[in-house]
Parts: sequence; structure tokens; C-alpha cells
Amino acid sequence: CRVCGFGAWLYSFTLSCLELKSTGTAHHFAFLLNSTDYRILRMDEDHDRMYVGSKDYILSLDLNDINKEPLIIHWPVAPQRRTECVLSGKDINGECGNFIRLIEPWNRTHLYVCGTGAYNPICTYVDRGQRAQEYIFRLEPGKVDSGKGKCPFDPKLNSVSALISTYPFILYAAVYIDFMGTDSAIFRTLGKHTAMRTDQYNSRWLHDPTFVHAQLIPDSAEKNDDKLYFFFREKASEMGQTPMAQSRIGRICLNDDGGHCCLVNKWSTFLKARLICSVTGSDGIETHFDELRDVYIQKTQDTKNPVIYGVFSVSGSVFKGSAVCVYSMADVRMVFNGPFAHKEGPNYQWVAYQGKIPYPRPGTCPGGTFTPNMKSTKDYPDEVINFMRNHPTMFNAVYPVHKRPLVVRTNVDYEFTTITVDQVAAADGNYEVLFLGTDRGTIQKVIVLPRDDLQTEELVLEEVEVFRVRSFFMFPLHFQQLYVSSVVGVTHLALHRCDVYGEACADCCLARDPYCAWDGKSCSRYSANQKRRSRRQDVKYGNPIRQCRGYNSNANKNTLETVQYGVEGSTAFLECQARSPHVSIKWHFQKENSDRRREDDVTLKTEIMDAKNISLSSQEKI
Ligand SMILES: *[C@@H]1O[C@H](CO)[C@@H](O)[C@H](O)[C@H]1NC(C)=O
Ligand SMILES: *[C@@H]1O[C@H](CO)[C@@H](O)[C@H](O)[C@H]1NC(C)=O
Repeated sequence: CRVCGFGAWLYSFTLSCLELKSTGTAHHFAFLLNSTDYRILRMDEDHDRMYVGSKDYILSLDLNDINKEPLIIHWPVAPQRRTECVLSGKDINGECGNFIRLIEPWNRTHLYVCGTGAYNPICTYVDRGQRAQEYIFRLEPGKVDSGKGKCPFDPKLNSVSALISTYPFILYAAVYIDFMGTDSAIFRTLGKHTAMRTDQYNSRWLHDPTFVHAQLIPDSAEKNDDKLYFFFREKASEMGQTPMAQSRIGRICLNDDGGHCCLVNKWSTFLKARLICSVTGSDGIETHFDELRDVYIQKTQDTKNPVIYGVFSVSGSVFKGSAVCVYSMADVRMVFNGPFAHKEGPNYQWVAYQGKIPYPRPGTCPGGTFTPNMKSTKDYPDEVINFMRNHPTMFNAVYPVHKRPLVVRTNVDYEFTTITVDQVAAADGNYEVLFLGTDRGTIQKVIVLPRDDLQTEELVLEEVEVFRVRSFFMFPLHFQQLYVSSVVGVTHLALHRCDVYGEACADCCLARDPYCAWDGKSCSRYSANQKRRSRRQDVKYGNPIRQCRGYNSNANKNTLETVQYGVEGSTAFLECQARSPHVSIKWHFQKENSDRRREDDVTLKTEIMDAKNISLSSQEKI
């Protein structure tokens, strides 16, 4: 019998919407508009504004005072277009609206904005004034472009885009460009370059893709080497192949002008590789998290080498699972510099191409480090272009760092869908905090700590419910706020709720939240700048005994002890429910009339109902 210890860290581990609001660390905007399908599309650092697109509306919020009334533009489609859309068999509310899907800064005064336009994509300019103080936000009259190749027809289809803003502007978009939603392409429009696209209806290039993310990542100091990377998932190339879905990283040279002989106005540098995220079970069977759901690119000091975080789930309905995998650009480049996948004919296997590879190596950008004398892809020999057309895929796959996922969830009734990462300077070192959105409307705040022999320890610091909806979007952090949007509105929430962890040093320490530290009086936000010697925190081990010497009395009163009596030779069910993930439950064995407690030579099994997939840290009773 003895000690079932958990302390004041009995805070509700999952905060519901309501509880979250009561902490004052979340704010929800519903905007009182007759609109839906909100997406945050752009942070405007120069004007300190955030632009949100929804059905028929564009909003501009003041980042300095987010509670201020937003500036609002109503941009519905003309009634005639709406009627045509309905007549073509589309749903009047769900599809025949103008769903805003692209907002990009155009010049100092204007934004470029595109919407689905009731199955007829349109783009226009929005005047936002010279300075934020002018409070200008209006459509530029009479300037409507076609949105084809920039924005999808169907609001349900994902598109991604990147406006490369070295004048004249060039828009790269990965999007379905037809009414039927069958013609997917990576498209280039605007600017002085010719319009470009991927080879049409060529399933070797793109096979029913779902686009997830686009990011410019420089390859060298030479601008001509710049490449735009696309992250997507697509159908496996072969019938009956498992897994059914394949996650991809693809890339193109920004200055690709297509071929001369063939691939005219089509990318001549498009290559793609498979992204692997899998675990091997104890039975040796490999589980593939094959469906890429979201990507977060963590910038580093070296712009050429950001860190790529991917969230993956399992396709099909056999079992539910999701994982986070991390990739390095060094590994990505190694795969793109490696062998090309080759198939002799329909009845052959995919193999590594063994033949002679033409020069310049397919996928090389013109005018770059390796091709200073070829200014355009139109100067490339025909054999290079022909090779590209038939070999868009790399033979090797990109494996995650350490060849395994950073975080895995299986045997749970939810999966991860989105990700954002923060770098946090804590009292005892620097940590990466992952914010992982789930399909039950919650966000889990997770850290992964390195342990001995390449093992890691994962801690779920908290889980908050942001929306009562299954799907939402999460955006890169802005001034210590996490922005989230969904069909019902926009929410921003603080990254930490230190005071929720309780009123004792030990509670604060056991919470192991890198944002928080015990300052002698309370658990509060730790800031590296205002260093105070008395700040106590131990993210790595959560050991309050070392950290909280002198503060013990406070913690002690919250420690729980349960005594369970048993009769020799019989069995007893030891019940003790942990409500915080960082509580370990320790049973000590003590014989009648003895003062000695043992815990090392009895094997005890405790079933912890709510904490199945949570690693329990060892904690000693204070
Ligand atoms: C709100 O929008 C819905 C669907 O778009 C429409 O049916 C309804 O009439 C609108 N209500 C108002 C008050 O405009
Ligand atoms: C920005 O672009 C818009 C649309 O082309 C144009 O009307 C406006 O004059 C431009 N503003 C500046 C400052 O160049």
C-alpha cells in the first residue's frame, strides 16, 4: 500500500472552448457577417494588419488591437453569375459564392486578391492605402482579371500559391484549373515571363494531387538557382500499389521558361520525390503515414536550410493514425541529386535510371552555378528536355531525420491535421514547441525531448479545444499568438497559460512548460531577456525537488496519498487516475508492522485510463 502521488497539477488537462475563454487567453471572432469558410490569408507586417478571406468577404484586422472592428469589403459575385452557377448544377450556398482563396501584397498600396467567383475564378486589386492610419480598404473599381490558374473553381479543392515579389510580380500557384476539377497544374501567371504549367493530363507528373504548401527555398547565393518547392500528396502511380497515397516534395526553377523543341510553355525543371514517414513495429511490419496533411517550414539562420515539418495521416479507413516527421534540406537535395526513377514499359518495375544522364543535369536551373552560359531553359539541348518529360520522379525517397517520426499517434480516435512550431528560450535551454491541430477541433501543445541512446521523450503540455468543428487552419505564429480559422470564424490564442498550472513551485516545475517558470511568487511567463536568478523551471526532467527547495511547503499540501489494503495471497485492483500527463503514479509496498517500504521488487501494473499514449515522467513525492 501507499503513495499515489499527484499534486496540484490537477489542472484540467484538456481545456474546453468555454474553459479556454475563461482564462482570457483566447479570443474568437465571428464578425457578425453572413459569411462562412474563413481563412487567414496574409499577415501584413508593414501595415500591422491581418487579412482574412471568407465567402464573399475580405477583412482587414488591426494586429495592434485585434479587438477593433475590422475593415470589411463585401465582394460577392454578380446575381447573373450566381444563377449560371446554380444552373450548372452547383449548390447555391456551398459552391456558388465567391470564396476568397488568395490575398497577396501587390505594391505599397494594393493587394492582389482572388476568389472562386461561383465556379468562375476572378481576381482583383484592393486598395489598402499608403499607411495603416488611413483606414483605407476598398476594391479598386473596374479591375477584374481572370483567376484561372490562380484560384480553384471548386472551393473544396485546396490550392497553394506564392507571389514572388521581385517586380514584375510573378504568381506561382498549384491549383485545379478547370470547372470539372480534373486538370491539376502548377501554374505561373502574371509578370513578363510567359505563362507556364505542368504537362497536362500527364499522371507521371501529377496524379490527382492535393496541394498542401509552397515555399521558395534558395539553393545557393546565386539567385538563378532559386527553386520553388511544392508539397502535395497524390495517388500512387500503380494500380493496387500500397500505400494508396504518396506524399511528395516537388520543385521547379523560378526562371524556367520551358522547352524549345517540346515542353513548350511547360516546366522543363519539374522534379518530384517521395516523402516517407513510417514506423516499423516490433513485428517488423512497416506502417506508412502516407497522406501529407500539412507542412510547416522552420526558418534557420541559413536561408538555404530551413527545417521541414510534415504532418501525415494514414489513407484508407482500416486504421487511424497520424505522425509528425521532420526533414532536412540536405536530405532533400541528396535525393534530387541522386538517380532518376525509370520504367522501361507498362510491364516493367520502376528502377534507378542507369543510362547516360544528359548535360546539363535535368532539373538544373539556367544561368545558375552549374550553367552560367545557358541563360534560359530554351537553350537546353533537346535530349535534356525529353529526359525531363519522361523522368519527373526521383528514384530514392526522402526519409525523415533519424529515419523515424518525431511524434506518432496510433490507437487513438483522432488524428493530426495541421502544425505550427515555435522556438522557445526557456529557463533551462531552448526548446521547440509543436502546436498540432487535430480533427476533433483541438490543438495539442507538444515538446519532444532528447533522451539517451537516440530515444526521445514526448510531452503533451496541454490540449485546448478551439472550435467545435473537425477541420480548421492554423497559421505561423505572430507576436506570441496562434491564429486559427475555420468555417465558423477566426480565433487567436496565447501560447501559454502559466497560471493555470497552479499556485506552487512544484506545480509549475512539473508542468514542464518551457514558456513558464516559477518566479518566487507564481507560475508566469519566462522571458530570457529579463533574467532573474530566482526563476525556477526544469523542462528536461521536471524535478521539483531540486528546483523548488525552499518552496516545498506549498507543494506538499497538494500531494495526494492513497492507501490500499490487501490480504496476502489475494489480488487487489490498484486504482489511481492521473489527470495530468506529467504525473507518475508510484505504488509502494509495505508489510504490516514494518517501517520499510519497497517499490523496486514488486511488479505493479497500473492501468491509467486517460493517459494511454502519454509517457509518464518519474516524479518523487516531495
Ligand atoms: C445569409 O446567407 C445565406 C446563404 O448564403 C442566405 O440564404 C441568407 O438569406 C442570408 N441572410 C441574410 C440575412 O442575408
Ligand atoms: C499599385 O497597383 C495598383 C494596381 O495595379 C495601381 O492602381 C496603383 O497605382 C499602384 N500603386 C503604386 C503606389 O504603385
